Parts: sequence; structure tokens; C-alpha cells
Amino acid sequence: MAKHIVIIDGHPDRSAGRLCHALAQAYTRGARSAGHEVRAFEIAGIDFPVLRSKEQFDQGTLPESLQPAQDAIGAADHLVILYPLWLGSMPALLKAFLEQIFRPSFAYDLADPKRGKFTKRLKGKSARIVVTMGMPALAYRWMFGAHSLKSLERNILGFVGIGPINETLYGMVEVATPETRRKWLAEMEALGRSGA
Ligand SMILES: Cc1cc2nc3c(=O)[nH]c(=O)nc-3n(C[C@H](O)[C@H](O)[C@H](O)COP(=O)(O)O)c2cc1C
Repeated sequence: MAKHIVIIDGHPDRSAGRLCHALAQAYTRGARSAGHEVRAFEIAGIDFPVLRSKEQFDQGTLPESLQPAQDAIGAADHLVILYPLWLGSMPALLKAFLEQIFRPSFAYDLADPKRGKFTKRLKGKSARIVVTMGMPALAYRWMFGAHSLKSLERNILGFVGIGPINETLYGMVEVATPETRRKWLAEMEALGRSGA
């Protein structure tokens, strides 16, 4: 069944040579070839301010430049979020994007403030997170516990009802051979085709 897929390319660098961009494009290509409807956002090309207060988060308005992305996420069946691991986590620009987008009234409601109960507003959407990194992917998982990835899954996406969430990790990307890169791009294209 054709899906509405939103791709968030979270690399802060617009340079065409970045692997994350190539992976996002491969996924898009595969998804479109299989009839899925794709909206792709490169956050490096979106101008938006950093969120600075709880007041802005709770009562402020979304920056206009982010409205298309928020609307698309609201209408999506499946999200694909790609980013390079920077200092053990997602790049600050992607975190700033998510802080702006996943605000109350869009992503969740405080149903019972006294008990701290929330209504998750983005249920029914699945996600895939794709992370590239300099270290071996197994080292990130087993030695570093993949903390930042778990935080994205549990504290941001899971918190607002998004699931199931799948992961693809590519390690040692700076020393990857052209053949390995081609294999990764083919994998992304296949995932795109299956909308997974
Ligand atoms: C500011 C910065 C911080 C980085 N921190 C890490 C890190 O903590 N762990 C790691 O394995 N790689 C780290 N790297 C390597 C990147 O993850 C790697 O260059 C990137 O995934 C390559 O993908 P790209 O071509 O899309 O940029 C860092 C790179 C930069 C520029």
C-alpha cells in the first residue's frame, strides 16, 4: 500500500558530497519508484531560530519556515530521519528543528497537568532513523550504549506516540570503499521501495 513518507535529512552541511544527503536521495528514489508519496526536507536549507524558552515552546507560534515540515509530518504515515553522529549525538541543528516542530498542541497535549499525564498526538506513524558515524556502528551500540539514539526514540518520537521505530546505522563511513557506499545506497533504495 502506498504511504505518505516524510524524509528529514538532518545534516547541517549543505555540501553535496555528504553521505547523509546521498542516503536520503536513495531512499526518496526507491520510495517514489514504488508509488509512495514523498516529502523531503533538508534542514540545512531551512532558516529558523533556536527555541529559547518554555513560554515559546508552550504558547509561541511555529516559525513560518517550519510550517511546511510540521504539516507534512502531521499528515505522514512514516518518517525517515537521517543524521551524522556529532559529538556522540544528533547535530544541534537537528535537535533545534525537533524542539520547534514537536511542540505541545501539535505533538502532544497535557491531558491531566496535575498528574503529568500526556495525550500522544502522533500515534499511527512509524519511523526509521538512519545514523552515519566515524566509529564502527557496533562500538556505538555496545561501548557507548547508543544513548543518543535511544533518547531520540524514547524521549522525542515515542513520547508523542510514533512507533514502531527501526534503525539503520552505518559506521566507519570516512574509510568506506566506493563499493561499500554503493551497497548502503542500494539498501536505502530498497528500504524506500518497501516504505520501511
Ligand atoms: C563535529 C563532528 C563531530 C563528530 N563526532 C563524532 C562522534 O562523536 N562519533 C563518531 O563516530 N563520529 C563523529 N563524527 C564523524 C561523523 O559522524 C562522520 O563524519 C559522518 O557521519 C559522515 O557522514 P556525512 O558524509 O553525511 O557527513 C563527527 C564529525 C563531525 C564533523
